[in-house]
Amino acid sequence: MSRVFGRVFSGIQPTGNLHLGNYLGAIRNWVRMQDSAECIYCVVDLHAITVAQDPKTLARGIREMTAALIASGIDPERAILFPQSQVRVHAELAWVLMCTARVGWLNRMTQFKEKSGKDREGASVGLYTYPVLQAADILAYKATHVPVGEDQKQHLELARDIAAKFNNDFGVELFPLPEPVIEGPATRVMSLRDGTAKMSKSDPSDASRINLTDDADTIAQKIKRAKSDADALPSEPAGLAGRPEAANLVGLMAALTDRSVAQVLADHGGQGFGQFKPALAEVMVAALGPITARFNALKDDSIALDSILATGAARARAIAEPVLAEVHRAVGFGDWL
Ligand code: TYM
Repeated sequence: MSRVFGRVFSGIQPTGNLHLGNYLGAIRNWVRMQDSAECIYCVVDLHAITVAQDPKTLARGIREMTAALIASGIDPERAILFPQSQVRVHAELAWVLMCTARVGWLNRMTQFKEKSGKDREGASVGLYTYPVLQAADILAYKATHVPVGEDQKQHLELARDIAAKFNNDFGVELFPLPEPVIEGPATRVMSLRDGTAKMSKSDPSDASRINLTDDADTIAQKIKRAKSDADALPSEPAGLAGRPEAANLVGLMAALTDRSVAQVLADHGGQGFGQFKPALAEVMVAALGPITARFNALKDDSIALDSILATGAARARAIAEPVLAEVHRAVGFGDWL
């Protein structure tokens, strides 16, 4: 994280708990980037409603995600932290960019195929155009760097394609091409029950993921029961080939202790999981315990959380509205108002 970043933007859906995949894949990088760049972080409630949501649960989820981000180290004084629906530029710019993006581009998006599953005809149109809204999120701030996990790579390529086509169609240099920042040994954290499936909040099995709200005992139990294999750990990364569960657990150890996978294996190679898992649970509890405590102290303080979100939204609007005005001029909506 010693690189120089321009303006950083990223987002997270306010559905379900913040889990270890979100934290190690993205949020930790969000926190680190606050030291070296102007950072804008968004709770993407407009994205959340692309699938059915209970309104009360969604409203609570927005506050809880805000509390979880602050508990993880996002500082709302330094970074701008706000809910997407409170800055109308996102939805308006998304419409303009939907007229830039091509149907063929969206047809290639693998996440839509996964999320719509067998019932593609029954999926919402919003789920299909979801990546265009994501491009609007980023481009509304002329963001240059976007810290995300590996699963967002294709959406970011699309955001770059949309930015380039818009600039080209209208003969402007309006949008910088945003660069993904996918860094660290845990850019794709896998399920604890299946080393070939991504750790995800939508997995019906709670044992598949570590939530940032899990207490020490729950974490220890989940790691103990995590799928592994009968072999000892290799002493070099090449020995993890074909062992997805082992690779995942070693990757978690590396990320949590700020070591490379090679360093972890140099230290733990030769150990069986009976020895390695308790060591992993211990570092996990030590890393997550303080976050959980801060989250619990903050999550019911709706007055403080709402005020943080309102301030963040006002700061976000001040950046995004002039960009939308430039977009209006570029496409010919005029500036006579
Ligand atoms: P979301 O809410 O699914 O996830 C938030 C962030 O967590 C990362 N992540 C993971 N990283 C590693 N391993 C995992 N198992 C794992 N699961 C999730 C995601 O890559 C993401 O960085 N579409 C986005 C939200 C979004 C956005 C944006 C992101 C909306 N607009 C603009 C960046 C820029 C999403 O659904 O993330």
